[in-house]
Amino acid sequence: MKTERVVVDRWNPDPSLIARAASLLREGRLVAFPTETVYGLGANGLNPGAAKKIFLAKGRPPDNPLILHLREPGEARSLARVDERAAALMEAFWPGPLTLVLPALPIVPGEVTAGLETVALRMPDHPVALALIEAAGCPVAAPSANRSGRPSPTDANAVMDDLDGHVDLVLDAGSVEIGVESTVLDLTGEKAALLRPGGASVERLEAFLGEALRQGTDENSVRRSPGTRYRHYAPRVPVCVWRGERLPDGVDPPKAGFIGLDVPNADFARAVVFDSPENFARGIFAAFRRMEAEGVLSIAVQWPDGHGIGLALQDRIRRASEEQKIGR
Ligand code: TXA
Ligand code: MG
Repeated sequence: MKTERVVVDRWNPDPSLIARAASLLREGRLVAFPTETVYGLGANGLNPGAAKKIFLAKGRPPDNPLILHLREPGEARSLARVDERAAALMEAFWPGPLTLVLPALPIVPGEVTAGLETVALRMPDHPVALALIEAAGCPVAAPSANRSGRPSPTDANAVMDDLDGHVDLVLDAGSVEIGVESTVLDLTGEKAALLRPGGASVERLEAFLGEALRQGTDENSVRRSPGTRYRHYAPRVPVCVWRGERLPDGVDPPKAGFIGLDVPNADFARAVVFDSPENFARGIFAAFRRMEAEGVLSIAVQWPDGHGIGLALQDRIRRASEEQKIGR
């Protein structure tokens, strides 16, 4: 397959480009598009054959379900059972980086839910994504547009690096805003459960719900969110966590890269130092990809504190690191 890449204006996407991308989706083909979190690899979410192509293109394990992306909250009611709590969260957090797991209606293909009785829904906060979903006239199933296990793509170059030849069209609207994926919240139980920390902070969600979130890391939830079982986000060179004391074993600074918030007291071959946790989140995946391309032998990543976006950063760093590889 030949992959076409077109530049599209984030704030004012060319309607003829969007129409072309939408007709590809309606034909059951794959279109990569920007969201506010990361780039997604989109397919018609009601077409089982199209959804299957996503798994092939990514090399994604078939038991890891997909998120359906919606044009507006009202669409959710045709795909899932939406109770008052879910409706209130949609009203407060959509469009935005919050994915809700709800009981699925039969219209949702098993290829999207990976055979579960639940479906994950989200309304992205990006003019190009919203225009595309609207023009396609269907919910758009989209995981992050990387090969399975690789760092998520935060610009179109990263999408091309991983998926050139495996996707029909890439809509290139530059770098994303948030840089880590949406927060995934399971609303099928009495208490909301956090399945994946992400762009919507736990503090904001808990303040809104008026209760603490259940941590979705117990055995039951891991079964319900299969994606959390797999190693993720990893560049091709080892990632080691730096907690600010001595350097981790296996990191030789003159041959290693550093990513974090504080300049380390060692002479690294490459260092990317961010001035805020938000910029750390926005830039971490691109920094992984750049450093692996530059040929460092390992990457030390500073462990951030867990407030706000920091919790999502901790999750991504842990999963990308050697700690996660053990016992894989
Ligand atoms: O920000 C995002 O969420 C990006 C952009 C493209 O929207 N998408 C994304 O998709 O990160 P993906 O496929 O890389 O991650 C989806 C996560 C996985 O951990 C998956 O297991 C979980 O959501 N998930 C999807 N459907 C689920 C379901 N029915 N029950 C539990 N977890 C589900
Ligand atoms: Mg992903």
